[in-house]
Amino acid sequence: MSRPPRVAVIGAGPSGLYAAAALLASETPVEVDVLDRLPAPYGLVRYGVAPDHIRMKSVIPVLRKPFAVGSRIRFLGNVCLGEHGLVLDTLRRHYHAVIHASGSSRDRRLGIPGEDLDGSHGSRALVGWYSGHPDFTALDPRLDHSGVVVVGAGNVALDIARVLTRDVADMARTDVPDHVLKSLQQSSVRDVHVVIRRSPEHVKFTPPELRQIGELDDVSVLVHNGGAIAGRAGEPADRRQRQNMRLLDGWAKAGGQPARRRIHLHFQRSPVRVAGGDGKVTGVVVERNEIRDGRLVGTGREETIEAGLVVRAIGYSGEPIGGLPFDEAAGVVPNVAGRVLRDGNVVPGQYVTGWIKRGPSGVIGTNKGDAGQTVSSLLADLAGLPAPAHPEPESITECLGTLGFDVVAWEHWESLDVEEIRLGRVRGCAERVKVAGLDAMMRACRTPSEDRQETAVG
Ligand SMILES: Cc1cc2nc3c(=O)[nH]c(=O)nc-3n(C[C@H](O)[C@H](O)[C@H](O)COP(=O)(O)OP(=O)(O)OC[C@H]3O[C@@H](n4cnc5c(N)ncnc54)[C@H](O)[C@@H]3O)c2cc1C
Ligand SMILES: NC(=O)c1ccc[n+]([C@@H]2O[C@H](COP(=O)([O-])OP(=O)(O)OC[C@H]3O[C@@H](n4cnc5c(N)ncnc54)[C@H](OP(=O)(O)O)[C@@H]3O)[C@@H](O)[C@H]2O)c1
Repeated sequence: MSRPPRVAVIGAGPSGLYAAAALLASETPVEVDVLDRLPAPYGLVRYGVAPDHIRMKSVIPVLRKPFAVGSRIRFLGNVCLGEHGLVLDTLRRHYHAVIHASGSSRDRRLGIPGEDLDGSHGSRALVGWYSGHPDFTALDPRLDHSGVVVVGAGNVALDIARVLTRDVADMARTDVPDHVLKSLQQSSVRDVHVVIRRSPEHVKFTPPELRQIGELDDVSVLVHNGGAIAGRAGEPADRRQRQNMRLLDGWAKAGGQPARRRIHLHFQRSPVRVAGGDGKVTGVVVERNEIRDGRLVGTGREETIEAGLVVRAIGYSGEPIGGLPFDEAAGVVPNVAGRVLRDGNVVPGQYVTGWIKRGPSGVIGTNKGDAGQTVSSLLADLAGLPAPAHPEPESITECLGTLGFDVVAWEHWESLDVEEIRLGRVRGCAERVKVAGLDAMMRACRTPSEDRQETAVG
C-alpha cells in the first residue's frame, strides 16, 4: 500500500496548528510534520498574548489537540527553515506540499532619528522579553527611569502599558520568567505615555482591552488633548468606537485621580525623533497633529516627553521566505486563497496561512477560518502534485540531523511543559513559569519528567 501524501507545516502558531488540525480532519489521509524554529509550540499565543491575559491562553488545549491523534502528525521543534542549509528545495524533496505559517516576525519601524538608541525597542522585543521568548532573554529594558513612551494605538500598545503598570503581585501570578518578575519588582516606572497619531475615533484599541487599563489597581488614566473628545457632535455610529469614546470621555472628565502609576493617552501626536544622551534614550519629541478634511497634518508644534524607554507598537511585518516571492510593502507572501503566487501564477505545492498570508492583524480565532481556506486549496490540488523523491518520514529527520538540527519532538516539548508547571508550583501562585533561554529550554526538553528533582517544590 502506498504512503499517504506528506505535508510540512512551517510554524506551530495558531495558523499552523489550525491548518494541521484541518488536514488531519479531512477525508483524504495525509501525514503532517509541524516544524518550528523554537522548541516550544503555539507561536504568539505563548510569546505574544500578554501574560496577564491568562484566560486567552485557554485556547492551548484546542491547539494541541492534533498531537493527541497520534501517528499521522509529528512536531519537529528547534528547526528553522532558512538556517543550517534547510531550504525550500530540501522540503520539496520530502513533502508533497508545504504550508508556510511563519507569521510576521519583524517589527515595523518609525523611520525617525534616534530610533536605534539604547532603550528604544520594537514591541516584538519588549513583548518577547516579558513573555520569555528565547530571542529576547538578554534584553534588559530600561525600567530605571520613571517615564516610558509607547507609540501606537493598537491592542499591543495597551498590553505593554498594562504590563508595565500592573501591580507586581498580579504579575507574580502569571507565567513571566523569574528574571522578568525581578525587573518588574525593581521597576521605577511611574508614567507610561501612549502616543497616538490620530483621534479617538481612529484608534485600533478594542473596548474590553481599553476598559482594562482603567481597572488596574492604583493606576490612573489621563487623556491628553481632551479637545479631541469634547465638543463632538453626536456619538459615532460604530459600536466599538462608541464604547471607546465613552471610556475616554469618562477619563477625560475625571481628569486623573492620584495614583502610584499613570497611563497617559496622548492623542494627535506623532513622534518626530527619539532624544538621547550618551547613546541612551532620554525622551521622545512629538509633533502635534490636526485632522483637516480627514487628513493628518503636522502643525510644527513640538513637545518632549521624558522617558528612558521607548517602545514602538506600530505593527509587524512578515519576513521573506527563501525561494518564494514576497510583497515587501504588505509584508506577506502573495497568494490566492492560500496558494502562493509568482507573477500571477500558482507555485505548485506551496501554501500560506495566518499572518504571513494576510498581514499582521486579527485575533487568534481569525486564523481558524483562514487555515481552513488554505487547507481546502491544498486538498483540491493534492492529486495533481508530484510525489517527492524521499517520502519516508525517517528521511527528513535523518536529513535534519545531518544538517545539524537538534530536533525537539512533541514528547520533548512535553518535558519542558511539565518543568514549567513545576516552576509555577515553586513560585507558589502561578500555573506555570516560563523557562527562559534556549539552552535552559533544551535542557528541560531533554530531562524526562521522572528524572526531575522535586526538592525545590513546596
Ligand atoms: C503582542 C501580541 C499580542 C496578541 N494578543 C492577542 C490576544 O490577547 N488575543 C488574540 O486573540 N490575539 C492576540 N494576538 C494576535 C494573535 O497572536 C495572532 O492572530 C496569531 O498569533 C497569528 O498566528 P500565526 O500562526 O500566523 O503567527 P504566529 O503566532 O507568529 O506563529 C508563527 C510561528 O512560526 C514560527 N516560525 C517563524 N519563522 C520560522 C521559520 N523560518 N522556521 C520555522 N518556524 C518559524 C514561529 O516560531 C511561530 O511559532 C496578539 C498578537 C500580538 C503580536
Ligand atoms: N487582546 C487582544 O485581543 C489582542 C492583543 C494584542 C494584539 N491583538 C491583535 O493583534 C493585531 C496586531 O496588533 P497591533 O497593536 O500590533 O497592530 P494594530 O492594531 O494594527 O495597531 C497599530 C497601531 O500603530 C499605529 N501606527 C502605525 N504606524 C505608525 C507610525 N508611523 N506612527 C505612529 N503610529 C503608527 C497605527 O495607527 P493608524 O491607525 O493611524 O495607522 C495603529 O494605531 C491586531 O489585530 C490586534 O487586535 C489582539
